[in-house]
Amino acid sequence: MKTIYVCNNCGAQAPKLLGRCPECGKWGTYEQELTAPAGSTSSGKRTLSLNGGGAPQLVSEVQAGEEVRIDMHNNELNRVLGGGLVKGSLVLLGGEPGIGKSTLALQVLMQMGGMKTLYASGEESAKQLKMRAERLHGSPDNLYILSETSLNRILEHVKLLKPELVVVDSIQTVGLEEVDSTVGSISQVRECAARILSVAKQQNIPFVIIGHINKEGSLAGPKVLEHIVDTVLQFEGDQHYMYRILRAQKNRFGSTSELGIFEMQQDGLREVTNPSELLLGNNWADGGLSGIAIAAAVEGVRPLLIEVQALVSSAAYGTPQRSSNGFDGRRLNMLLAVLEKRIGFRLPQKDVFLNIAGGIRVNDPAIDLAVLAAVLSSNMDIAIQSGVCLTGEVGLAGEIRPVNRIEQRVREAEKLGFNKIIIPDGQKLSFQPTSLQIIPVKKVSEAFQQLIIGK
Ligand code: TYD
Ligand code: MG
Repeated sequence: MKTIYVCNNCGAQAPKLLGRCPECGKWGTYEQELTAPAGSTSSGKRTLSLNGGGAPQLVSEVQAGEEVRIDMHNNELNRVLGGGLVKGSLVLLGGEPGIGKSTLALQVLMQMGGMKTLYASGEESAKQLKMRAERLHGSPDNLYILSETSLNRILEHVKLLKPELVVVDSIQTVGLEEVDSTVGSISQVRECAARILSVAKQQNIPFVIIGHINKEGSLAGPKVLEHIVDTVLQFEGDQHYMYRILRAQKNRFGSTSELGIFEMQQDGLREVTNPSELLLGNNWADGGLSGIAIAAAVEGVRPLLIEVQALVSSAAYGTPQRSSNGFDGRRLNMLLAVLEKRIGFRLPQKDVFLNIAGGIRVNDPAIDLAVLAAVLSSNMDIAIQSGVCLTGEVGLAGEIRPVNRIEQRVREAEKLGFNKIIIPDGQKLSFQPTSLQIIPVKKVSEAFQQLIIGK
């Protein structure tokens, strides 16, 4: 046996303990591991032929054909996977503990109708799984559950049972006896994933493996797993809210810009087909509240109308606080600086709190304008007129920059009954909305004039 040190972020190995990983630059990530000497199974030298050992082929002669996809009976999941689960593919489903990964996986298997499926759990006993299954809807006619932490035994059962879909929950709790490091360590995770991959490709069975996220927010053993699997799905959300978002971080068989939205309920996860209606609440229709602006955002390729809330109040301490929830704090500071320098609104000695309603996190820069509108509305204590939404990225000169997918944003706003939308000047629309007035603006100050004078 040999002792080596392995970086738990990127999987780099070193003969001695290092403070900083020379490969990925992270500090304090090295962990001790025992490995068998070179030549044994865990040396990572096993290779896998994906074309049955054939010679190189001309690309023009390769038979393309569509991948065979399995309908998951769940629109949101199908959408994120790119139209269903590809046979023989390996999917990694990652997320923080308690976010609902096991629930999602079990629920999907329970809705697969008569298809023979296997749920192998290294975390819960068969009894616990049964209890969980009872909370969820579905008629699991052909769902097998297996409580097992030995991957070899799980794969033996797969061979005998011949299921059409297998879930392994989780990759950090199963292990191979022939790998001499502890279950959950980098070598175990990597070897287990490689073993599952070869079974998936050889027997043409799709596998979904569940993985926990480590404290930095990346998948544990992240880099080593991400390149092995075909698809990486990330399940995220705030545990205190019911919304959960499923994103594809990598997908060899589809786009990574699709997004699935779920709502966690007493009896499992419900698909959300109309996210804007849920996220908006009723404030926008009634109006009357200051500090609220509606942004026409797009996450991935999905239009979402979201409520941005701001509260500006006199600072309790010498240094004003700036705090934001669901929006990048540095970007908020930048926007406040633009407000001060380009528009002449000074917010010294004021605390600014910003919140995206619903507990979701938005990365779309097009919500900048709504953020500034909410801040200004709260500061002046004047409510923005009801039925107005905004979209536009704000540049450092106070200019409004064009946004992508403008037509989708406008359509969504019209669909939800808004009557005005403020958009960046110069963006062309191929259609003319009937009930929605479009107001193009060049500068942040123009947008504010529209919001306040237009009232
Ligand atoms: P779980 O799937 O166990 O999370 P993970 O596998 O990602 O660690 O889900 C945990 C939470 O979900 C738990 O706190 C309870 C809640 N939950 C519901 O609200 N409704 C349900 O039907 C189920 C099964 C769980
Ligand atoms: Mg779980």
